[in-house]
Amino acid sequence: MRILTFTGKGGVGKTSVSAATAVRLSQLGYRTLILSTDPAHSLSDSFNLPLGSEPTKIRENLYAVEVNPYVDLKKNWHAVQKFYNGIFQAQGVSGVMADEMSILPGMEELFSLLRIKRYKSSGRYDVLVLDTAPTGETLRLLSLPDTLSWGVKAIKNVTKYVVRPLSKPLSKMSDKIAQYIPPEDALDSVDMVFDELEGIREILTDNNKSTVRLVMNAEKMSIKETMRALTYLNLYGFKVDMILVNRLLDTKEDSGYLENWKTIQQKYLGEIEEGFSPLPVKKLKMYEKEIVGLKSLEIFAKDIYGDSDPSRMMYDESPIKFVRNGDVYEVQLKLMFANPVDIDVWVTGDELFVHIGNQRKIITLPISLTGLEPGEAVFKNKWLHIPFDRNHHKQDRMTQQNNNVHN
Ligand SMILES: Nc1ncnc2c1ncn2[C@@H]1O[C@H](COP(=O)(O)OP(=O)(O)OP(=O)(O)O)[C@@H](O)[C@H]1O
Ligand SMILES: [Mg+2]
Repeated sequence: MRILTFTGKGGVGKTSVSAATAVRLSQLGYRTLILSTDPAHSLSDSFNLPLGSEPTKIRENLYAVEVNPYVDLKKNWHAVQKFYNGIFQAQGVSGVMADEMSILPGMEELFSLLRIKRYKSSGRYDVLVLDTAPTGETLRLLSLPDTLSWGVKAIKNVTKYVVRPLSKPLSKMSDKIAQYIPPEDALDSVDMVFDELEGIREILTDNNKSTVRLVMNAEKMSIKETMRALTYLNLYGFKVDMILVNRLLDTKEDSGYLENWKTIQQKYLGEIEEGFSPLPVKKLKMYEKEIVGLKSLEIFAKDIYGDSDPSRMMYDESPIKFVRNGDVYEVQLKLMFANPVDIDVWVTGDELFVHIGNQRKIITLPISLTGLEPGEAVFKNKWLHIPFDRNHHKQDRMTQQNNNVHN
């Protein structure tokens, strides 16, 4: 299943572009599902049709769903929630508050992700189009499997070797202690969710099937946010294959009091084309009215893709590469707009840590690289190169090496 994720700053046109893409795909005969992960859903407004938390058929080959994380949360997390709820209530936290507190941070996003896996396994769709919440939240969503997978192993081991063996004898001791012991069904829920999560990372970062498209406007803040998003997406291993600049005023027409905006947009457009190169940058005009309903979405799709197939890989380069050059292996990471000063690299065990600003990427190294000392990282032509020399084995596997990155 091909996955196309659209993201960008608030209000730039993500939902309209995603919906138009889905419409076009369905016309080409792809069984298409468009899924909105934005809690403030507007997909139904875009199609001008009521939608629900299960796929609704819109026309031949086109289905749409607006995920309601609370419905999924209740279904999959009920046992865990009940357990936490009990603890919070025993501490004097009232009903609704305890309910809210038992939803852990990131849970809502987590259940949207679990849906992706479910739809892929169903085999019912050829393409999944994701209409997401504004960039910040979406980055959180997309980085979640990465962030969680790190702790998952640890949590699962604690559950398996500590909590489960202890829970039975402890629960017999006294009611006071027993209330703090998670029951079997809560532990099963945790295991199940984490098991499912493991596969999602692979699905979303499968660079042959899943790509992200960034929607933006030709405005300073939108450009900044899109650049940041691109850096972090690359860092998490997602492949971005297209940039869409929406709401451009027609340079050939008179724009009245918006004339000045036209000049500003053209200036930024130049910056965008230069900065995001070699990614394809698609320019989209500002329409006279809102893009609502199938007819308008079809016209918009024609503007975006012409006669080409939206599911095509628009730019085909993997953001992480492992390259061998004689005895030296290199991990190469595409970081389009990262400032070398902000980058920090080190290795612990079989994991490569790359820090950029306040974000961290953990790359599990291939077996051929584990135990090797990383050389000096170099940042050139938008790629971070981290060399590993096969002749330099680490003396102590736990030593951390901080690298300053050079230009
Ligand atoms: N090129 C365009 N010309 C005219 N109107 C547009 C254009 N693109 C989007 N719109 C309109 O702008 C409004 C916001 O667009 P849309 O909902 O697609 O943005 P969004 O990025 O999904 O917003 P949010 O961040 O709130 O989810 C909608 O009413 C849409 O019809
Ligand atoms: Mg939207």
